[in-house]
Amino acid sequence: MKNKAKTIHVNSLNHTSKLGHQLGINLRGGEVIELSGDLGTGKTTLIKAIVAGTGSNDHVSSPTFVVSKLYKAPKFSIVHYDFYRLEEPGLLTNELTEQVDDIETVMLIEWGGSVADILPVNRVVIKLSSPSENSRIFDIIYPEELDYLMSDI
Ligand SMILES: Nc1ncnc2c1ncn2[C@@H]1O[C@H](COP(=O)(O)OP(=O)(O)O)[C@@H](O)[C@H]1O
Ligand SMILES: [Mg+2]
Repeated sequence: MKNKAKTIHVNSLNHTSKLGHQLGINLRGGEVIELSGDLGTGKTTLIKAIVAGTGSNDHVSSPTFVVSKLYKAPKFSIVHYDFYRLEEPGLLTNELTEQVDDIETVMLIEWGGSVADILPVNRVVIKLSSPSENSRIFDIIYPEELDYLMSDI
């Protein structure tokens, strides 16, 4: 399996929203997207735009204290995880493995480091960094077969 890479520089919140929105439009169901980057780089902000782009009206907020949140999009379900401070997945391993195998559920994962072993190799990894207050860099690595996710991006 071959991976491809794309780096996107944005200069505003609005540009981040557009990017996330297009990703949401391009999702077909079953994809796993891991977002990594320091606090405040925009992982939750990007996820809000992705979820809106799928056509979901559900409210997105950071699941830091509840670990996961579930949203309903017209064509699939979306599960949003935030593993900030989770040292090891423990009992979550089963739940995660089931969702990874679910070909309909889209998984959006913040701070996936401690569960990386459970996540599929054919996932999208977005590394976010913040060179200045309103600008962001998104380094996206994705499997070739998910090329459709990058259309119009
Ligand atoms: N271009 C941008 N893209 C994303 N967020 C931005 C941008 N410019 C400013 N911000 C701000 O950065 C913060 C990102 O916070 P958040 O999405 O919660 O980050 P994380 O989930 O990575 O901790 C928000 O307050 C957002 O308004
Ligand atoms: Mg967050």
